Amino acid sequence: MEFASIILVLLVLLTAKCDSCPGRCLCCMNDICGTDSRGMEQTCLEGCKDGYHQPRCMWPCPDHCQTCRQSDGVCQTCQPGFYAPSNNCSSACDYTNCACVQSICDNCLDGFYDVGSHCDSVCSKGCSEEKCNDDGTCECKANFEGNECDVCVIGKYGENCNINCNNENCRCIDSTHCISCRPGYFDLSTFCSKQCSVGCKDICSNEGHCTCLSQFSGRTCENCKPGYHGKNCNTPCSNGCINGMCNRDGSCKCSPNFTGRMCETCVARQYGFFCDTPCGQGCTDNTCYKDDGTCNCEFNYKGALCNTCNDGYFGNLCNSICPDRCFNCSTSENCYTCNEGNFGLDCSLNCSANCVGSICGKSNGLCLDGCLDGFTADSCNDSCDGFCKTCSQTNSTYCTSCFDGFSGSECKCIPNCRCELNSEVCNECTNGFEMKSKDCKCNRSYCLNSMHCTTCQNNKFYTFNDTCCECNKLCKNKQCSSETHCLIGCDDGYTGANCADLCTDYDHDCTKCSQNEHFCVQCKGGLTPNTDGVCAVQCRETCVNKECDAKTGRCHLGCIRNFYADKCDLVCPSTCASVPNKTRCDNYGRCLHGCIEGYNGVTCVNATTTNTCDSSAAGIVGGAVGGASTIIIVIIGIVLCIQRRKQQKKQSESGSQVRFSNHNPFIIEEQERHYQKLSDRHNTTARVQDEAYTELQTNSMDYERVDS
Ligand SMILES: *[C@@H]1O[C@H](CO)[C@@H](O)[C@H](O)[C@H]1NC(C)=O
Ligand SMILES: *[C@@H]1O[C@H](CO)[C@@H](O)[C@H](O)[C@H]1NC(C)=O
Ligand SMILES: *[C@@H]1O[C@H](CO)[C@@H](O)[C@H](O)[C@H]1NC(C)=O
Ligand SMILES: *[C@@H]1O[C@H](CO)[C@@H](O)[C@H](O)[C@H]1NC(C)=O
Repeated sequence: MEFASIILVLLVLLTAKCDSCPGRCLCCMNDICGTDSRGMEQTCLEGCKDGYHQPRCMWPCPDHCQTCRQSDGVCQTCQPGFYAPSNNCSSACDYTNCACVQSICDNCLDGFYDVGSHCDSVCSKGCSEEKCNDDGTCECKANFEGNECDVCVIGKYGENCNINCNNENCRCIDSTHCISCRPGYFDLSTFCSKQCSVGCKDICSNEGHCTCLSQFSGRTCENCKPGYHGKNCNTPCSNGCINGMCNRDGSCKCSPNFTGRMCETCVARQYGFFCDTPCGQGCTDNTCYKDDGTCNCEFNYKGALCNTCNDGYFGNLCNSICPDRCFNCSTSENCYTCNEGNFGLDCSLNCSANCVGSICGKSNGLCLDGCLDGFTADSCNDSCDGFCKTCSQTNSTYCTSCFDGFSGSECKCIPNCRCELNSEVCNECTNGFEMKSKDCKCNRSYCLNSMHCTTCQNNKFYTFNDTCCECNKLCKNKQCSSETHCLIGCDDGYTGANCADLCTDYDHDCTKCSQNEHFCVQCKGGLTPNTDGVCAVQCRETCVNKECDAKTGRCHLGCIRNFYADKCDLVCPSTCASVPNKTRCDNYGRCLHGCIEGYNGVTCVNATTTNTCDSSAAGIVGGAVGGASTIIIVIIGIVLCIQRRKQQKKQSESGSQVRFSNHNPFIIEEQERHYQKLSDRHNTTARVQDEAYTELQTNSMDYERVDS
């Protein structure tokens, strides 16, 4: 047995090609062997290394066979250079460009193609990664094109298609031979430097000839079809072009009344599609918008076309002005509309001041926009009746709004009350008010404590029947201690137990009177209450003994010295000459002793000579500018002036009781004016004299009284 085994091993070793597999396990795949599932020891459990088979991988595969089945040695892959494992790799491979595994040429190696002719064709140089399909087609590298990527793109040439042709739009084979042009370009002789016309439908011939797009014409389609212009020949020529024909840029010769490079505008003063309509005569610069004739108007025209006179103007040239107060007119006699506030044929009448906006009908003066608050009737000259704040213009008793809180068609429904429908009788109090008998003027909210209303919030209320009521509104500050007693008397102008009497009922000029005896404490219009509490004029200081008529103020005993007029409120003219201890003027302001030097007339208001002092003073300023000779003349003038002043001063000091530092022309004028008025006694009123006295006082600052 031992011997037989040794013989077998020797036999295996002699026949085995696997020189390195002399022993068990040596040719096992991954050198792994062991006992298999059937209990057989030293079996290669993961298969055999290339070239061996049999459970312990000790038998070699057939000749040229690279790998064979472990169980039975059937060849599975051939060694390189042989093919067809099923035939035990008995055939040798013959073609170098072929991949030879199952057959003599399974497919081509990279860079070759055409299995049918044993891959004897080489892929084009333009093929990406130099690989191609079996028919030679491939994906192209940059600068190559064609199915087999065997030509250069337009504009490139050379073996690697990396040399530029003379022109990028030319397909060339070298630097001198251009063979075709990129679509849209032409002329091989200039390496396709010319572009086909935009009017070409697609490509053009080597001469540039082509089929035209619809808008174009000519062999090279450079021209627009008649009547059109523009880059795409789709802009119609202006209708102002003669025969509607224009150049490629639209310019043309103009028909009459058209102008502009493309004859697209009208000549001055014309508009319209045919430029044959005159612009409005009021268009500024005589130009108007071509399409519709609109324009900017001169000031005396209006309307979109400026062809009518503006408001206030009339005439063929709209340069005549409508009469005063006429808003617009057709002639100076025919006024259409008056200015606001006027009416009448010639607009000479004033609308009622009570018209809203002072707007009234031209023919009848009726207020068009209604009346101001409180007025009614067509001309708004009537007052609304009774309690209305505003009323219907056609019914003065129909109130459209009431004064505070009142309501109802006649505003007679008192505040906080619901009245019977269409009547002013109070039905019940509203809004928390109560006591119909007290005109709904009571409200528990006026109480300090509404549960036990014994005190009110303040003096403007009084307690009554467990509530608080508003005081009589005629109480001063509306304060009272009870329903019938004002706290601090009545409001100014009222008197009597309920403050219901007017002070004027007792003294017409009284504005405030005592509550019980009705004697006046304040009067209106400059009157003063006298010791009897009657409004009377206060006699002036200037009345002799200060005695005068209580109503008119006329001094009973005349005026003290140098004052005049009924109330002795005017000063004798300062230009009247003075005599010691005597008045200068009579009761009409006429000077009794002549005038001071330089004046004449009965009131001495006329100056007889110009004042040399004033002109000298002006000369000083002029002289400063003028020459030396002028200065000398001025100095002489000043000397004369100073002397003259001294003289005047002496005169006035010796004679006058009232000394004037300078005469005031304003006072003189005023006095002259009042002299005239006093002479015309019918026109003289106490008011005018009052005003005059006030004016005199304010304008007589520059005199001082010497005596009393
Ligand atoms: C040009 O305008 C004038 C003035 O409006 C008009 O009388 C004349 O007919 C116009 N000419 C043409 C050719 O339309
Ligand atoms: C005017 O209004 C009062 C109060 O509403 C009304 O009683 C009277 O009938 C009205 N008069 C006319 C003429 O409508
Ligand atoms: C006082 O108030 C009561 C109920 O609030 C009322 O019935 C009564 O008539 C009132 N008295 C007077 C005088 O108003
Ligand atoms: C002027 O009146 C004063 C006193 O009022 C008197 O002293 C004086 O003598 C009078 N002069 C003449 C000229 O009457």
